[in-house]
Amino acid sequence: MPSPDLEKFRIAIDAHRAKLADACAAVRDAAGLEELRNRYLSRKRGFVTLLFEDLKKFEAADKPAAGQLLNLLKTEIQEKLAALEESLRTPAAGGPGVDLTLPGERLTWGAAHPLRIFQREIESIFQEMGFGIEDGPEIETDYYNFEALNFPPNHPARDDWDTLYINDNLLLRTHTSPVQIRIMEKHKPPIRIIIPGKVYRRETPDPTHAAMFFQVEGLVVDRNVTFAHLKGTLEYFLKRLFGDKLKTRFRPSFFPFTEPSAEVDIECLACGQKDPACRVCGGTGWKEILGSGMVDPQVFKNVNIDPEQYSGWAFGLGVERTAMFAYGIPDIRYFYENDLRFTRQFHLK
Ligand code: DAH
Repeated sequence: MPSPDLEKFRIAIDAHRAKLADACAAVRDAAGLEELRNRYLSRKRGFVTLLFEDLKKFEAADKPAAGQLLNLLKTEIQEKLAALEESLRTPAAGGPGVDLTLPGERLTWGAAHPLRIFQREIESIFQEMGFGIEDGPEIETDYYNFEALNFPPNHPARDDWDTLYINDNLLLRTHTSPVQIRIMEKHKPPIRIIIPGKVYRRETPDPTHAAMFFQVEGLVVDRNVTFAHLKGTLEYFLKRLFGDKLKTRFRPSFFPFTEPSAEVDIECLACGQKDPACRVCGGTGWKEILGSGMVDPQVFKNVNIDPEQYSGWAFGLGVERTAMFAYGIPDIRYFYENDLRFTRQFHLK
């Protein structure tokens, strides 16, 4: 038997292909799809099956080319029908099968985290005063976290910062103060920076303690810097944060890396210094929110800054406890639960 014309075969296939597009567009439901599948692919009478029958009539030399054409058509049909089946199952808007009476999908908005909002507020107050913003690693060496800050090995002052060690030398930083050292090693004074960041301590979680929390560190180094600068700047900062009438109190304290050192309290805004049974201030009327002091000359020596020429002051602020105060949040753990009903209550100013 003479081999059918390959070209005619190609034309016949193209004709099926063209009809297929129209036929698919006309399908409205699963029954229509089934009918179409039978028309093309039914094992007995499907167009494609019949075309495969024709293949037998080709001479050996033409068979591969004809077979390839036909296989292409078959895959194309299978793909189109599969896509059609999918679109019937998950109808696109306006497509077949859409039930316009169903309620729409609700878009939920996230929110800036209150700690981030508060941190931004702190940053912008210091930026207005000409401070830069720096950061440093959360995994620190013993040298930066302790030794360069004038905590000798085995010194009891380390007990307050009993920490999470990775090995004998590496630990999760317990405060942002090590970044002071890193910055002073790299930059010559004048230095005027704040360092926001996460710190880690071995704590049992309760309403005011967490094993991870945020601090904002500050450092100023220049010639003729005095305690009056420390006091004036921190008072101004706290009044910007809590209002002009805020009462503050500087209390002598001890930190190995500052001399003299002071802790700063603000008046208890929860009870207005009036409730002897206040759960926030314990009836003292004051709440400690930061540690500060004049940079110890030994710390300057550790970073090759001459303490005879330069002086400086520093502070470390607990972000959560200050934010809890500012926003009236009773439990620190609310910050970390990622409950949108909580985080949505705070807004950027
Ligand atoms: N690093 C101290 C802490 O975590 C806070 C602190 C106190 C930072 C005095 C300072 C400072 O820079 O001068 O409790």
